[in-house]
Amino acid sequence: MSDRYALIGNPVAHSKSPWIHARFARACRQDLEYGLIEAPLDGFAAAVDSFRAGGGKGLNVTLPFKEQARQYSERVAARAAQVVNTLKFNGGVFGDNTDGVGLVRDLSINMGVDLKGRRVLLMGAGGAAQGVVGALLEAGVGQMVIANRTMARAEALAARHPGVRASSYASLSGSLDLVVNATSSGLRGDAPVLPHGVFGLGTIAYDMVYGRDTPFLAAARAAGARACDGLGMLVEQAAESFLLWRGMRPETGPVLAELRAELSRR
Ligand code: ATR
Repeated sequence: MSDRYALIGNPVAHSKSPWIHARFARACRQDLEYGLIEAPLDGFAAAVDSFRAGGGKGLNVTLPFKEQARQYSERVAARAAQVVNTLKFNGGVFGDNTDGVGLVRDLSINMGVDLKGRRVLLMGAGGAAQGVVGALLEAGVGQMVIANRTMARAEALAARHPGVRASSYASLSGSLDLVVNATSSGLRGDAPVLPHGVFGLGTIAYDMVYGRDTPFLAAARAAGARACDGLGMLVEQAAESFLLWRGMRPETGPVLAELRAELSRR
């Protein structure tokens, strides 16, 4: 029987992860299956228990369960401080977070951005933002400001990382090298968060959402910034999870190119 993996979340129906992991498995000659589990909102632990009881080897975890996955883990990687997006089962339950590495690899390898010394604005202080702060700092960014609608959450997240500052959106000033949108505002169709004055010529504006042109990206482009969506991060975090599970890192370039071409045909 093939080793079994899956993405667990709610909703998961439109996820590209099974497609990505099938490509990785084929390229790396790994015999595995990767499925989707839509757990009820109050049924995360029960769904994971039953997947494990059936011999499942690992899970990717998406909204809204990343914090519950942290609780479920018996051991947690240092880089998965508060939120876990990858679980590995071999005897115990190991929790990790591959989103931060995914973002950094997309920026540095796929986009050729040197992150060292860069001035960065991270928008949002929820699970998505928490997952990437550590990796951006490790990549050597120079200054990091975290802005959030609820200031107390930005302050709490900044306080866990020496040298990082919290700000409201209204008090941001001056253009930055990199602006990462880690808010969920665009996802629910709410009014987008559009910080003023932070995009300059050459700013990289990165939206973690993928597969659509968001108001954030449109505003960035209009201001002369380089706008990019989170498709590369999606593929890179998947590759890092694959590495954790299978001990080998799949090549991401061809998979990302094929996925981008497929999405643009729609
Ligand atoms: P996720 O795991 O996607 O980060 P989350 O933990 O619910 O989900 O966090 C959502 C983030 O998007 C938060 O930073 C939230 O701001 P608040 O902490 O102030 O709630 C941000 N967000 C969501 N909707 C927003 C909106 N309409 N305007 C501004 N920020 C918004």
